[in-house]
Amino acid sequence: MGNLVYDSSVPQTWLPEVCRLDTFPHAPDVLADMILTPAERAHWTAMRAVEKRRHEWLLGRYAAKEAVRLVLEKNLDVRLSPDQIEIVTDPYGCPQVEYGQQAGHLLKPVLSIAHSQGTAVALAVLDPGARVGIDLESLAHRREDFETVAFSPDERGLLAALPADLRSEWALRMWCAKEAVGKALGRGLSAGLLAFHIARVDLSTGAVEIELRASALDQCPQLRGKSLEVQTNRESCFVSSTFIYHQGAAAMRPSRQEILDYLLQKMGELTQDWDYPDPVGPESLLFTGLGFESLDAVVLCTAIQEHYQTPMPFAELLAEIGQQQRDLSINELADFVNTHLRPSSGEASRRVQ
Ligand SMILES: CC(C)(COP(=O)(O)OP(=O)(O)OC[C@H]1O[C@@H](n2cnc3c(N)ncnc32)[C@H](O)[C@@H]1OP(=O)(O)O)[C@@H](O)C(=O)NCCC(=O)NCCS
Repeated sequence: MGNLVYDSSVPQTWLPEVCRLDTFPHAPDVLADMILTPAERAHWTAMRAVEKRRHEWLLGRYAAKEAVRLVLEKNLDVRLSPDQIEIVTDPYGCPQVEYGQQAGHLLKPVLSIAHSQGTAVALAVLDPGARVGIDLESLAHRREDFETVAFSPDERGLLAALPADLRSEWALRMWCAKEAVGKALGRGLSAGLLAFHIARVDLSTGAVEIELRASALDQCPQLRGKSLEVQTNRESCFVSSTFIYHQGAAAMRPSRQEILDYLLQKMGELTQDWDYPDPVGPESLLFTGLGFESLDAVVLCTAIQEHYQTPMPFAELLAEIGQQQRDLSINELADFVNTHLRPSSGEASRRVQ
């Protein structure tokens, strides 16, 4: 078994792995015994959901474990069994990979899962800093009003310009592209369907270009101004999409200067209508200098945690400065964030699900 941990020298070009499963290779309970870790098995047993949902969860876990297993084998020549790979989810439902102690040192691929009509797909990429998303939908199960709900007038204009016989397939490709990007951001489509704006489609390659808008940009500000290319495919009655965005090692962990720049910009946004005699700078004090009240501090702390997708002990910090009856400069806040940011994203509290 290799002994590889993530560092900036790890190549970003390893091949991704997509795994698709259309049927259960064994009866579901037998499969569960074969592939799940004890924690996953307990979750599967306790899962209160209709049988269809339990089955798609299990098939999705199997597809995910196969994709992870194959990506490790092909790229690192490491062989793990499915029950040595645990799929946990972050608080937003985004799947993540964990290993048991024996393989704890190994690089963890990033992962995405989708299921539709008894078929499950998973995408694994061996770059812990990447963002990935996959989606799968059946052409046979579309509501009549789907396009009105899912697309803006501009997006419907794109569809209207396509040959009539391709429209329903491309509408589904566009939907799948939005879902893949939503999953890659880690929040699904919670920012709203129109926050994933389809700018262009390419009939010859299957590519769909998305630009983030509104609150999707709050979820991932580093993608502002970027055109995100999602690959879509049609196979029999299924349409699928895959999206892989390599952020690069540097983007995984901002420098202290980048944190300070972000705080100054955020502070500028929060206080844009406030009248200050002096410009806001690193030494500005939040409460006595900028006139912050407790609620403003809470808004700021929430925005910071949301931006870095990392919980930080702001309550303790605010309690401590309250007890000491002192103020906090933007510079000190940058030190605090710098101390509490983990080396990579995605280490927030996790649970098996
Ligand atoms: C996450 C979401 C895109 C999933 O889409 P879906 O069509 O319901 O289901 P899919 O089969 O395509 O994908 C399901 C898988 O997505 C993954 N997933 C769930 N939440 C996720 C998230 N926040 N980020 C990334 N992946 C996520 C899970 O692995 C899930 O499978 P599992 O529960 O078996 O592990 C969608 O439910 C969503 O956007 N949810 C959040 C906001 C919301 O509910 N909006 C209403 C819709 S507009």
